[in-house]
Amino acid sequence: MISYPIISFSIILLALSILVKVEEIQWNQVTKESKIFLDIITSIPMMIIYTIPITGAILTFIHILPSRLRLSYIYNIDGEVIKSNMIANSKLPPFLPDPKFVSKEAYEKIYNSLKKKSESTTNKVDDKASWALLTGCTRGIGRGIAISLARRRVPIVLVSKNEPALVEFSKLIQECYGVPIHTIISDLSKADAVEKIVKELKDKDIAIEFLINNAGVADTREMVEMEMSKIEEICNINMLNMTKLTKVLGVLMKEKQRGRIVFLSSLVGAVPIPMSSVYAASKAYTRSLARSIGRELETYNIACTCIMPGAVAETDFASSSNMKSSLVWKFPIGRLSPQIVAECAVINAIKGNQEVVVGWLNAALLYIAQCLLPPRLIMIIGEWSWKPVPSLNIFRKKKNGSITTE
Ligand SMILES: NC(=O)c1ccc[n+]([C@@H]2O[C@H](COP(=O)([O-])OP(=O)(O)OC[C@H]3O[C@@H](n4cnc5c(N)ncnc54)[C@H](OP(=O)(O)O)[C@@H]3O)[C@@H](O)[C@H]2O)c1
Repeated sequence: MISYPIISFSIILLALSILVKVEEIQWNQVTKESKIFLDIITSIPMMIIYTIPITGAILTFIHILPSRLRLSYIYNIDGEVIKSNMIANSKLPPFLPDPKFVSKEAYEKIYNSLKKKSESTTNKVDDKASWALLTGCTRGIGRGIAISLARRRVPIVLVSKNEPALVEFSKLIQECYGVPIHTIISDLSKADAVEKIVKELKDKDIAIEFLINNAGVADTREMVEMEMSKIEEICNINMLNMTKLTKVLGVLMKEKQRGRIVFLSSLVGAVPIPMSSVYAASKAYTRSLARSIGRELETYNIACTCIMPGAVAETDFASSSNMKSSLVWKFPIGRLSPQIVAECAVINAIKGNQEVVVGWLNAALLYIAQCLLPPRLIMIIGEWSWKPVPSLNIFRKKKNGSITTE
């Protein structure tokens, strides 16, 4: 991750040094101190140092190229290779918005046009179709990913613990996008959740080629203040069951020599976050797992993609993790929409990309911070942005009308 700015910087300095040597440029217009500095940064030993990251990048590129070229295709319901079109591409049907966040008229307009279009298309599942399995789908980013896949006519197995919402959502997807949907009700915080999912898939004879590990929960508190049951819930959903599901479906993908696995990590997967230590650690685990098993599985034409969003609007994440009054949610700089994160996840998975920080501002802030700031300072910034903002009501009105400070 950190290598992109370093490589770019090395290329610029190497190019400058070569230019100075070839053109025999003399530094006339500069002070003596600046001349010494410029002589040092364009000297032969420094040029050797600049070539190290550039050579590393070239060797890495050469090493991963064969597996990238071999990556298998993902097919849609009609047996066509799925293209990684962008969100606004007119060839794909529009996103059905979440009715909670748009006006009734806007929702109904899109719903009716999607329904009309879908009724006029055939609904045949080709042998070649690649089924996707998505954990956590009835709200937030998961909802967006389900629609993103449906826009590309990928049949989906939707896994959720919320039965009524799942039934309603699967009906909606079928009505609007005409893709086959299979639903599995499973609480991923429970020990037997993965066994239940695998049994259902076997019974229905569904082979999964596209796994999206989206379900995730968080909590904002000092770790020692958290109930043991909450810690277990976070670990089971965010790590244990995600790993077990990836293992069992990974075996089947390996047999078929074809597949994609998406892991929903987070920016906090790169930065430890006091006040959300278990969640941040679980996302660092996710990121590490995605990277390492991605390397293990690339030989079998299976690509693992780790998605790292920052704060995402129109999700229940802030309220369910008790962080609505934290700085990142109060001052929404670089906040993303679930649709953008979903498209980013699906597109990058189809392409077989390894890791994506979603949003240019998030990516820039992370890279700059990691290059320039000491890790402890980055962690403290993370802590501040996660902690509840102290109440701004410094001045409170007393009952009799006079003003006091707290
Ligand atoms: N929102 C953000 O700012 C943000 C930022 C970075 C990363 N992320 C990550 O993105 C992923 C999706 O989160 P979100 O933003 O969409 O949050 P959300 O709106 O709170 O949704 C949480 C998701 O997790 C699923 N889930 C929760 N408990 C579950 C359980 N016991 N069994 C099965 N599924 C369960 C829910 O599925 P059902 O309700 O359908 O059961 C839902 O899809 C998470 O992994 C999260 O860590 C979120």
